[in-house]
Amino acid sequence: MAKSVPKQEIGKNYNDFASKYDKAEAVPEFLGLNRLRKRLLSQAEGAVLEIAVGTGRNLQYYPAECRISAVDISDGMLGFAKKKADALGLKVDFQSMDAEALSFKDDSFDTVVDTLSTCTFLDPVKALGEMARVCKPGGKILLLEHGRSNRGWLGRFQDWRAEKHAKQLGCVWNKEPQDMVMDAGLHVISARQSFLGIFHTIVASPPAR
Ligand SMILES: C[S@@+](CC[C@H](N)C(=O)[O-])C[C@H]1O[C@@H](n2cnc3c(N)ncnc32)[C@H](O)[C@@H]1O
Repeated sequence: MAKSVPKQEIGKNYNDFASKYDKAEAVPEFLGLNRLRKRLLSQAEGAVLEIAVGTGRNLQYYPAECRISAVDISDGMLGFAKKKADALGLKVDFQSMDAEALSFKDDSFDTVVDTLSTCTFLDPVKALGEMARVCKPGGKILLLEHGRSNRGWLGRFQDWRAEKHAKQLGCVWNKEPQDMVMDAGLHVISARQSFLGIFHTIVASPPAR
């Protein structure tokens, strides 16, 4: 597995990249990523926690009744997310926080969301465990992640480029999202792969405690 960059550097690198993030995402969003986000987030309800909110690309898709809290390790990314929330007229509780050590109490949220970020977490299984901890029993964990393609040639290409790809922003693009979810002990309700098997849309619930 490719080495990621240290955590302090990830936050700093995303601060530097924040103003370019939406432009860099424009093509995949246009090709259908935005539809995957919309479909997934239509299932959010009640008190919602979004982990690694980034520039806030998901904010526009939450049902109006949701009460949203959102965290990220990069203040630069949070700054852009705050601007989006203001433009949408949304009241969001933004906090700077590490996904692997959430400061929320157990069972605090009805829905926990993470999109395109387990690739960057140094210990994604720990972060998924934290998502399960803060999610109420019977609540939903909504994930849209990218990982190693299940098409042989593409998966091998990702393996070959993984080290180089991880250098800039710490995105390790050949992880296996479904394995990580299982390792964290989450109960998978549905899982679907798209875009040549790269994107995983997973609806899960926390394990019984
Ligand atoms: C690829 S971006 C995804 C942003 C957003 N979720 C989206 O779907 O567009 C990854 C985000 O994860 C954040 N991040 C990386 N490591 C983190 C950590 N340990 N805790 C919280 N946020 C983290 C980065 O700052 C960045 O905003």
